[in-house]
Amino acid sequence: MKFYKCGSLKGEITVPGDKSISHRSVMFGSLARGTTEIHNFLQGADCLSTIACFRGMGVDIENQKDKVLVRGRGIRGLKKPEHVLDCGNSGTTTRLISGILAAQNFTTTLTGDASIRKRPMKRIIDPLSQMGAKIRCLNDNGCAPMEITGSPLCGIDYPSPVASAQVKSAILLAGLYADGETSVTEPYVSRDHTERMLSLFGADVRTEGTTARIRPVNELYGQKILVPGDISSAAFFIVAGLIVPGSELLIRNVGINPTRNGILKVCQNMGARLTLINENDDRGEPTADILVKSSSLHGTAIGGAIIPTLIDELPVIAAMACFAEGETIIRDAAELKVKESNRIDVMVQGLTSMGADVQETEDGMIIRGGRPLHGAIIDSKLDHRIAMTFAIAACMAEGETEVLGAECVNISYPEFYRDLEKLQ
Ligand code: S3P
Repeated sequence: MKFYKCGSLKGEITVPGDKSISHRSVMFGSLARGTTEIHNFLQGADCLSTIACFRGMGVDIENQKDKVLVRGRGIRGLKKPEHVLDCGNSGTTTRLISGILAAQNFTTTLTGDASIRKRPMKRIIDPLSQMGAKIRCLNDNGCAPMEITGSPLCGIDYPSPVASAQVKSAILLAGLYADGETSVTEPYVSRDHTERMLSLFGADVRTEGTTARIRPVNELYGQKILVPGDISSAAFFIVAGLIVPGSELLIRNVGINPTRNGILKVCQNMGARLTLINENDDRGEPTADILVKSSSLHGTAIGGAIIPTLIDELPVIAAMACFAEGETIIRDAAELKVKESNRIDVMVQGLTSMGADVQETEDGMIIRGGRPLHGAIIDSKLDHRIAMTFAIAACMAEGETEVLGAECVNISYPEFYRDLEKLQ
């Protein structure tokens, strides 16, 4: 797909539902007693993979598009699937479902697309095995496809080497079925949607600092879930609004959970004109409308505890840094190498080919802003966030930018290009 430099961006936009929260609403609804009604569910390929997996285990899920009804089968009600469960491109589906499957009384095989079959699963296999699960990588490479034989589980106290909500959630979900308390301690707090939502469903979950604990319960109870707009999708418009001169955008109903809102802090540190309006905190997940006005930005340093709160936004933050005065340093972000693509590599290559001054480091990158960008051919590597990032960078690049594999935005934001066009 081809993109060109654009004039100021103006108007209002509502981004689709949060991907992390949409996945969890289907998973927990499937394990609950009664019906879970989900509004603003993200109809992206990743979340549809989660629906397909739970349907494969006998859960009646009615996707009416404007809402999704999950008729839960109870905590011990899943059925052995007749086929391999296909998680598609979704790391969240693969890792979280593994925690649930670890405790079932049947064996399941999980697989996914070429990207999923390269992503590290040892990070969940290790703790789940310590709890008693039997997990085998069919290609003996620490990746999917994995065969998971459910077993009686024991609680553990797990010091996680990575700040990863997928790892934490897999362990907490297994902990729902364990014989005692299970805890996970992270180096830094990762997104806490599992803790918040499981608690809403009636689980016994507590958090203290960087530790999350769970005790088994007999039942979870279906809930009505209103999924907020995804800040990771809003990020593209936040950056576009800031870097394209003369822009003014209002992004409605965005989730601003403190474990996800690092991008707002970074933008503010860079001198962005961002205002939160209509802040609302009464539905389990805080939300706000975000008013963005084009701004003159300066470089910043991003590292440490803030990293997990903006991990998926780092590609578009790197693009934004090209338009900021001075140097932006991103560090402690080695996790970027094991996302849907190696996002350090792909960003450094892509931005460099557009004329930016970007240097790869061991755990991040250094961007020296201020150079004008020009169009280039960018391989998205079928990574949705890379495709969207370069569509935004192209708004400020002279000439033509071609993004290869641009259709991969269907993973998290099927209407992305149409929404971007509407603001021009
Ligand atoms: C997610 C957690 C993050 C994030 C991913 C979604 C989740 O991954 O990058 O897009 O829903 O729990 P890690 O937990 O592995 O960092």
